[in-house]
Amino acid sequence: MITADLLIIHAGELVCISDTASDKPKRGSDLSEPHIIPDGAVAAEGGRIVWIGKASEVHSHVELKRGGDEIDARGSVVTPGLVDAHTHPVFAAPRQMEFAMRASGKTYQQIAAEGGGIANSVARTRAASEDELYANAVKVADRMLDYGTTTSEAKSGYGLSLADELKMLRVVRRVNDSHAIDWIPTALPAHDIPSEYKSRPDEYVALVCNEILPAIAREKLARFNDVFFETGVFNRKQSFKIQSEARQLGFGLKFHVDELSDVGGAQLAAEMNAVSADHLVYISESGISALAQSNTVAVMLPGTAYFLDLPRKPPVCKMIDAGVAIALATDCNPGSNMTESLQMAMNQACVLYKMTPAEALVAATHNAACAIGRAGAIGSLTVGGQCDAVIWDASDYRELPYHYGVNLATTVVKKGRVVRGKV
Ligand code: NIG
Ligand code: FE
Repeated sequence: MITADLLIIHAGELVCISDTASDKPKRGSDLSEPHIIPDGAVAAEGGRIVWIGKASEVHSHVELKRGGDEIDARGSVVTPGLVDAHTHPVFAAPRQMEFAMRASGKTYQQIAAEGGGIANSVARTRAASEDELYANAVKVADRMLDYGTTTSEAKSGYGLSLADELKMLRVVRRVNDSHAIDWIPTALPAHDIPSEYKSRPDEYVALVCNEILPAIAREKLARFNDVFFETGVFNRKQSFKIQSEARQLGFGLKFHVDELSDVGGAQLAAEMNAVSADHLVYISESGISALAQSNTVAVMLPGTAYFLDLPRKPPVCKMIDAGVAIALATDCNPGSNMTESLQMAMNQACVLYKMTPAEALVAATHNAACAIGRAGAIGSLTVGGQCDAVIWDASDYRELPYHYGVNLATTVVKKGRVVRGKV
């Protein structure tokens, strides 16, 4: 008999996503075929999954330890904990006034040119103490767990100085040390050119390469480095320089690319073997084929395109057909998409990008885990993997993107422990 300290039984649909652990993203038609066990059960011991199968068979294979928890899902959908592969969750203050300005007709770029946008969050984040940022970050982390996100990527990028980037990443570390959620840290000192360097951007690039990234590496504060390669922000040469330095220092690479214009960012990300290329609203034909032939995961952020009301839709179905590995994320940040809900991102992916509910769920679990280097351990329910799971108030997984604007997560399990809802 296998012993377990947690059992979830009678999952009407146990959506495992994959039947065996894999670190390869799903592509093409594989995205449409999540592995599902009807009336399933999952058993965990010490936070790891030790058995998965039919509920009718669990008691002949698994013995629940004394004091262990048995959760009857009563026919509900059970999925892996959702994985948010792109977020900016550390910030000092909301930017609701910019939201109101956009509602009056201004664009994101116009607001940024008037001193709003990223610069607004930078000024407020620099002025805030680490404790203040931590208190706000915990609220974001709490909401993520409420909504079924058990792991999220977490970027810096509102500091843009040595001290303030370190301050943000120390906040991410404090959240990891004190909260049930896992935040995978990404350095983003190249999120924007700070105002004091606007007339001499190459000097800021040198500061990032020579001081900020080495200091982050020394303190082991981030696993990835990201660059905003965009018209009017960092150009191709500067982005290449920063990412080459980041790679030397041992960071995996991520890119904000082709969000507001086609800068050939998907191609650069593929060429540099980045773990992910994110946004891609303006991706070109050659960008699609570059990603399709690479290991780089395309992280789509439909909530941002929606929130900013961008005039173009990325050709996501075409990307899937071409074999690009697609993941979904919220981009949770105070400026361009203020939400922690991946259920909402799945809805937006289906409505705006015509992804199917199956594709959206695989993209927000296994493929998202691939985009942050954690596939195999999280993003699917497989024996040997981490027991991060969500019980939803739904009997068919397609209800997750369908029933929008509400939270259907009723019980959230992280590393085999119930962190939301009742046992
Ligand atoms: O992912 N594109 C750049 N960065 C963020 C926006 C951040 C902000 O406006 O504060 C994004 O959309
Ligand atoms: Fe972003």
